[in-house]
Amino acid sequence: MFISKNLAVNEKGHLTIGGIDTLDLAKKYGTPLYVMDEDLIRENCEKFKKSIDDYYEKNGLVCYASKAFSCKEIYRIMKDEGLGVDVVSLGEMYTAVSAGFASEKIYLHGNNKTIEELKFAVEHKIGRIVVDNLNELELLNCIAKDMRSKVDVLIRVKPGIDAHTHDFIRTGQIDSKFGFAIETGEALSAAKLAVELDNINLVGAHCHIGSQILDVDPFVLAADVMIKFISDVKDATGIEMCELNLGGGFGIKYVDKDDPVDYEEYMKAVSIMIQKKCDQYNLNRPFIVIEPGRSLIAPTGITLYTVGARKEIPNIRTYVSVDGGMTDNPRYALYKSEYDAIVASKASEEKNEIVTIAGKCCESGDLIGENMLLQHAETGDILAVCATGAYNYSMASNYNRNLKPAVVMIKDGKSRVIVNRETLEDLVKNDI
Ligand code: LLP
Repeated sequence: MFISKNLAVNEKGHLTIGGIDTLDLAKKYGTPLYVMDEDLIRENCEKFKKSIDDYYEKNGLVCYASKAFSCKEIYRIMKDEGLGVDVVSLGEMYTAVSAGFASEKIYLHGNNKTIEELKFAVEHKIGRIVVDNLNELELLNCIAKDMRSKVDVLIRVKPGIDAHTHDFIRTGQIDSKFGFAIETGEALSAAKLAVELDNINLVGAHCHIGSQILDVDPFVLAADVMIKFISDVKDATGIEMCELNLGGGFGIKYVDKDDPVDYEEYMKAVSIMIQKKCDQYNLNRPFIVIEPGRSLIAPTGITLYTVGARKEIPNIRTYVSVDGGMTDNPRYALYKSEYDAIVASKASEEKNEIVTIAGKCCESGDLIGENMLLQHAETGDILAVCATGAYNYSMASNYNRNLKPAVVMIKDGKSRVIVNRETLEDLVKNDI
């Protein structure tokens, strides 16, 4: 009945998440409010880990792509689950390290890492640096030399695969700011240089073909291309890279028409291809890393809003305005991403209205969604928008000086705040 499995209706007809009444959460913590479900996050982690155990003989690591949702508590949960994490900035790296995350299980990404980021990574012995370009490779070698260190790197490769997703979130094709293209020979040249540099240890290759991919085939194709690349590097340098990182991108169900495959299907299909190609090129099967972000987190979260104004424009549309918007969820404004929504107090009722859910920013494009089927929403109702656990809090802004909502975590039928609601004082604290 609901998009995410942790949502249900209680005897009062109210929407629940992880067994807790969402109206009680709204009352206790206020709105807008992000609510996330730790039990489901852990269940998702277990599923990804099990897929590597079952289909790849435990020879791999699930790394949570923390750009999906980054705060100290999520790194603690991922640490406890035995996952690695992928970070893309000094801020994410710092948050992970300050939450006590083991640095050797951190992967640093980024297409334009700063000197400060690289220095921090070398100093804190971050496990892997995924090198994106030649400038970075040489800079990293110098920094490592100065710090009398040798760093383990992966080469970020563009495998040239069209993953049939929204242009903005597709990163594997040749016209991309990320990584080295294979077909131009750039990737091989980068690997050769990495092998020559004294303070660099080339351990593997990385690719990420896109996001919200609902198919298995692009991942299998990526594995095929990447093993061939490992073979080409071995032929050219004599070095056999022992680690293959296939990135993230596994899709989830946002709305009814999305039909994602089970997580285990990815590893199952990819493992077969890796084995076949390794046999063909006479290589050892590499250690595998996958980097799910959205699929671990998005379905576990919802956002609760209070409905304010209703505006019925005859023969045009009905606007239902909420007390948040593009500042806590910019994904409709950016990508026209679709969501399912529920009036929390009427969760067992039929959805009988088509409405546009609008935010409160001074911006016409500030919408959570258009033409959404919803129960009749009135001023004061609590509205839940589903599957907002990823790329919502992490992409939130203070536009119009709106305050970022709190994040509440649910576990074993109890709720706790994991990120405080911003205050007006927070807003002005850097102003001189
Ligand atoms: N690894 C790398 C190197 C990535 O660039 C990404 C996402 C991931 C892993 C995780 O991908 P996921 O499993 O979450 O799809 N802001 C966009 C998504 C951007 C994703 C960028 N890279 C959105 O809201 O849809």
